[in-house]
Amino acid sequence: MITKKRKRPVMTVHKKVRKAVFPVAGLGTRFLPATKAVPKEMLTVVDRPVIQYVVDEAREAGIEHFIFVTGRNKAVIEDYFDVQYELYSTLAERGLDDRLERLQRMQPMPGQTSFTRQQVPLGLGHAVWCARDLVGDEPFALLLPDMIMQSETGCLKEMVRLYGETGSNVVAVQECNPVDAHKYGIVAKGDDVAGGFEITGMVEKPEPGTAPSNQYINGRYILQPEIFPLLAEQERGAGNEIQLTDAMLKLKKMQPFFGYNYTGRTFDCGSPEGFVEANVAFALWRPDIHQSVARSISELLESTTPLERRKIAR
Ligand code: G1P
Repeated sequence: MITKKRKRPVMTVHKKVRKAVFPVAGLGTRFLPATKAVPKEMLTVVDRPVIQYVVDEAREAGIEHFIFVTGRNKAVIEDYFDVQYELYSTLAERGLDDRLERLQRMQPMPGQTSFTRQQVPLGLGHAVWCARDLVGDEPFALLLPDMIMQSETGCLKEMVRLYGETGSNVVAVQECNPVDAHKYGIVAKGDDVAGGFEITGMVEKPEPGTAPSNQYINGRYILQPEIFPLLAEQERGAGNEIQLTDAMLKLKKMQPFFGYNYTGRTFDCGSPEGFVEANVAFALWRPDIHQSVARSISELLESTTPLERRKIAR
């Protein structure tokens, strides 16, 4: 008797996402005068620089190599991720082991970081293109460091999980107030897929009233390396800059894009209000300072006179 061979389910294994790109060349003009001497990525939320939150999110998602696209006056970011022998040995001598261990936990391993410069500020698409040789021929994560996120499981980790099911390209989205849609990249939503959804369209900074939805791209991406040749030829778009979204739209004609609905909190640390909100939210998340911060905030809210009656120093 001939027994029919049972068909095995087809398992597609997608190339692991090992590398992450962090575009950190931006001038931070919304944060002047602070950013005259300190890169905006080094401003602190509670006691960690903004960039540390984003690198931690990448590490949690299994990223093994961290690629920074920097610019002039950003050298301190490279120093920050280096080992500081004198500091480490002083902490050890003084018996401050908990602080030393914390620093060491955050420290990338030797050879895990790369730095390249975006020599001219031509936009996000151009910044990503600058990382092409460091990324090579493999999928990569892209994290915009202005946006920091707060949730039990990191946004990128969830995206890697979705990517494990779908492969191809994955973009995290959240809902925005429709009146703010013109500030972001916006996606159009198709069918639900594996806990995410298929993206049917994308537009960068749509004219007010023309956005296809209120699902905005929140600054986290998993992209295939085929994006690089498209970025190389990409012409300037919104804001007269080379826009990543425009190149993604071209890539979408060749490969699918999936959306991951992030349900945590996102803070735009590129704006003073988002930065202050991030500080409050992360301080309230810290068990050691939660109580005193919560008490101060409620006292301040009770005692503050209405804003319009106050003379605010500018
Ligand atoms: C960039 C992206 C945009 C995205 C946004 C999130 O815009 O181009 O698609 O929605 O980040 O912060 P930018 O903020 O650089 O203008």
